[in-house]
Amino acid sequence: MIQQHDVGSVARAFQIRGKFASATPYGSGHINDTYCAVFHQEAGAVRFILQRINHIIFKRPVEVMENIQRVTAHITQQVVDEPDCERHVLRLIPAIDGRVWHVDREGNYWRAYRFIENARTYDSVESMEQAFEAAKAFGHFQKQLATLPAPRLHDTIPDFHHTPKRFADFTRAVDSDAANRGILAKTEIEFAIARQSLATALLQANLPERVTHNDTKLNNVLIDSATGEALCVIDLDTVMPGLALYDFGDMVRTTTSPTKEDELDLTLVRMQFPMFEALVRGYLTSAAEFLTPGERRHLVCSAKVIAFEQGIRFLGDYLAGDPYYRVHREGHNLDRCRTQFKLLQSIELQEELMERLVQDIAF
Ligand SMILES: Nc1ncnc2c1ncn2[C@@H]1O[C@H](COP(=O)(O)OP(=O)(O)OP(=O)(O)O)[C@@H](O)[C@H]1O
Ligand SMILES: [Mg+2]
Repeated sequence: MIQQHDVGSVARAFQIRGKFASATPYGSGHINDTYCAVFHQEAGAVRFILQRINHIIFKRPVEVMENIQRVTAHITQQVVDEPDCERHVLRLIPAIDGRVWHVDREGNYWRAYRFIENARTYDSVESMEQAFEAAKAFGHFQKQLATLPAPRLHDTIPDFHHTPKRFADFTRAVDSDAANRGILAKTEIEFAIARQSLATALLQANLPERVTHNDTKLNNVLIDSATGEALCVIDLDTVMPGLALYDFGDMVRTTTSPTKEDELDLTLVRMQFPMFEALVRGYLTSAAEFLTPGERRHLVCSAKVIAFEQGIRFLGDYLAGDPYYRVHREGHNLDRCRTQFKLLQSIELQEELMERLVQDIAF
């Protein structure tokens, strides 16, 4: 990442003691610009995370920050008496003016967090223990937020997981065929249309609205470097009202295949049952207390719905000429769609076994 911002003067706009020393791009996130800033304080060098919010994706950054402020404050209240509580929740640092964001001269919105030390994230899953830990952490996060008092959080990306609307967008992209690519994606379009009923499967199930994370990738969980245990959930931009199962389904989508999202060799793409089992067990460790029977019954369904939804989003973008997802090669979004559909197929093939597992341990 090229440093395009005067991060030093941004850092000084926050209530951080000591003398600003340096700021360097940090991490592998690709939504916001993340920097690690170092300040010299009496006790030595102290690190902070500074993030520029991507306002192309998050059109109302103040609402994002209001959500994050409420969510972190609520979790803090619950962990404050735990040992090592400082590492179990993100802590926002207020700006000089008292708000939890700072707007720079170019109109960019920034926030600052205390840096959680001796922890790391993993871009791809290395073991079933990691999958278990991550699922447990996301379930715990949902549990902590189940008691968030009114008002409702802002919908920072409206209709984010409204699968029927995503399906309508997809069929519009098929009909207009703006980039003349329909002919190249005939098989995938047919695959999606044959599964149209998945679009409404979760919304028609009468499941309760909860506070959800909405970006439940493994690399949004900080893992203790020494113990391998999950410490806390990060990347809170998309926390908003939703269905608990959006988070669970997205964990299955992002964690269970041993491949990348744009893998070309589809024979390698598959839903690995032991990983699924680790996710279910981890998630239930923390979420069993609050999940309704209806939610438990739809755990497997949610995995299918989310893979389907992501697949039609990639396919729709491909058909429209790639306006949304950045592409690095010809047909990149079609390749991404194919991995999602292959994963969905793999789930369909193992569905009975998956349902049996859920039946055995969730009821
Ligand atoms: N408080 C923190 N302490 C230590 N490391 C942090 C902290 N917050 C973020 N990080 C690190 O910075 C990286 C990027 O953060 P984050 O996930 O919020 O960015 P992002 O651009 O939104 O990511 P994504 O591409 O997943 O949307 C994380 O993977 C993590 O390694
Ligand atoms: Mg992230």
